[in-house]
Amino acid sequence: MLQVVKTTAELRELVRRVKKEGRTIGLVPTMGALHEGHASLIAAARAENDFVIVSDFVNPTQFGPTEDLDAYPRTFDADCRLAEAQGADVLFCPTPAEMYPSAEDTWVEVTGNITKVLCGRTRPIHFRGVATVVTKLFHLAQPDRAYFGQKDAQQVEVLRRMVKDLFFPLEIREMPIVREADGLAKSSRNVYLKPAERQAALVLSQSLFAAQRAFAAGERRTDVLVGQVRQQIEAEPMAEIDYVEAHALPELTAPHAVLDVPHLLAVAVRFGTTRLIDNVILDPRTR
Ligand code: PAF
Repeated sequence: MLQVVKTTAELRELVRRVKKEGRTIGLVPTMGALHEGHASLIAAARAENDFVIVSDFVNPTQFGPTEDLDAYPRTFDADCRLAEAQGADVLFCPTPAEMYPSAEDTWVEVTGNITKVLCGRTRPIHFRGVATVVTKLFHLAQPDRAYFGQKDAQQVEVLRRMVKDLFFPLEIREMPIVREADGLAKSSRNVYLKPAERQAALVLSQSLFAAQRAFAAGERRTDVLVGQVRQQIEAEPMAEIDYVEAHALPELTAPHAVLDVPHLLAVAVRFGTTRLIDNVILDPRTR
């Protein structure tokens, strides 16, 4: 049965007991508003670990001053049901004061191109907030494996670098994007979309899949593939592009003119007031 834990002291005590029994821990960090994408992460954690902790915490430090912190959907009762149905053992839902106990802040910051491009350009403090809260969660939950979705592919690469640089003894597991039947990537922010915006947003997956098909058919010119996605999105009147870019993985360095190493092809686009992201990975080794 799912145990709801609100304090760091309680979580630490539970983790101490689980570790003493020699059991492995899977951690699924979330900001709640759980959907099928999260369900797939929890199911993977359940399959690969003895004990599964899901964190449910809307982390204030990763939101910019004009972003949707207050409006961010909070669906605690439904989150409990979903986490329990997927076999989670613990739902950790601390308050901001519990997670940020000092009046001053201590930050974890991953520097370099990896946090400056894509979402880092328009959300300059975002990845510092993510790295800091995930560090806290790693210390509290001491997971053997931590689960993140490919939809936030830049976040995954930032956290991989953090794990490497700070010697966290755990494995980052990246799970595929879960999509609606019509292709829209599942996101807690999809609830903001008006019906016409939701329809218009299909251009994201459609344009990325078209690029993926062109890549599979042999197109290797990066500018052609990026240009194709941009053109298709620009043709949608409701879409306002933040970025359409390709970057070389894993460090998100400048794209190669010819796609000879794995690249992330990523988009961020506004529909009304809702900013959505999506991506595909173009990997010449597997296609
Ligand atoms: O991906 C998210 O939901 C958040 O960025 C995370 C990893 C839970 C940190 O707050």
